[in-house]
Amino acid sequence: MDAHKLKDTPVILFTSCKGGVGKSTVCANLAMAIARRGKRVLLIDCDFGNRCLDLITGMSDDVVYDISDIAFGRIPMERAILKDRRTENLFFIAAPYSFENSMNAFAFKAVVKRLVCSASYDFIFIDTPGGIGDPLTLAADVADTAYIIAEPTRAAVRAADRTSEFLATRGVKRRRLIINKLSGTSVDKAKQEAISIIDTTSLRLIGIVPYDPEMIAAGNKGALVDEMISRNVTSAFDNIAARTLGEGRKLFDGIRRLRKLR
Ligand SMILES: Nc1ncnc2c1ncn2[C@@H]1O[C@H](COP(=O)(O)OP(=O)(O)O)[C@@H](O)[C@H]1O
Ligand SMILES: [Mg+2]
Repeated sequence: MDAHKLKDTPVILFTSCKGGVGKSTVCANLAMAIARRGKRVLLIDCDFGNRCLDLITGMSDDVVYDISDIAFGRIPMERAILKDRRTENLFFIAAPYSFENSMNAFAFKAVVKRLVCSASYDFIFIDTPGGIGDPLTLAADVADTAYIIAEPTRAAVRAADRTSEFLATRGVKRRRLIINKLSGTSVDKAKQEAISIIDTTSLRLIGIVPYDPEMIAAGNKGALVDEMISRNVTSAFDNIAARTLGEGRKLFDGIRRLRKLR
């Protein structure tokens, strides 16, 4: 099962078979947090036919080509790779605007393989749509790591477990949980909630992100964590960035009072 996996550049999927849990938001903001630590990160939107990472990253006006243009040799690869205006270290490839049946596993894997082999990036992040369908299968075949996003609801945690089981069968060895939209009043209560979630899943936790209305406003504007004010949000992404880079960092470092769900 492992022979087809790509080596060298770590390829991390952001996934859950449940929609609306914050996959795209967490993927884009963690990419920015890691880019701000001096690592080169390439974001690939794999939500074929329903792309939104270009909006969340604020790059929608710059998108001309997408990953299918590379896959089918319509343009040289570099022309579909957008460079972020805010940092030197963040890059982006859009998903096709409309669903392309022809975007098959072979073509997709060939593109990701070329990007991995180019050794131009420290990380490749792939944002996947909800559901256990073709895009997730494609993405799973090129990744060794998945960050599975769950909200603190029973349905989302169950979806995270199901997603993890599916990814295990596709050979994605490193599967980690991110609890997003953690709300409440005190950090102690949020910690209790995180513990009760961990208790019901077999996944290991890589990080938590608090619920914060600023994330919704930023997502609509195309602003990322580098332009956010909320210390809770900036700390949360820096914590996960540090843990992704293998540094020891407390889960709730820098996180103070949490916001209540609106
Ligand atoms: N930590 C958070 N706090 C508040 N809202 C959030 C948070 N994370 C995501 N959201 C919001 O949740 C909605 C769904 O997020 P999105 O990233 O599009 O989910 P998915 O990609 O899983 O479908 C968006 O409106 C987004 O702004
Ligand atoms: Mg999404």
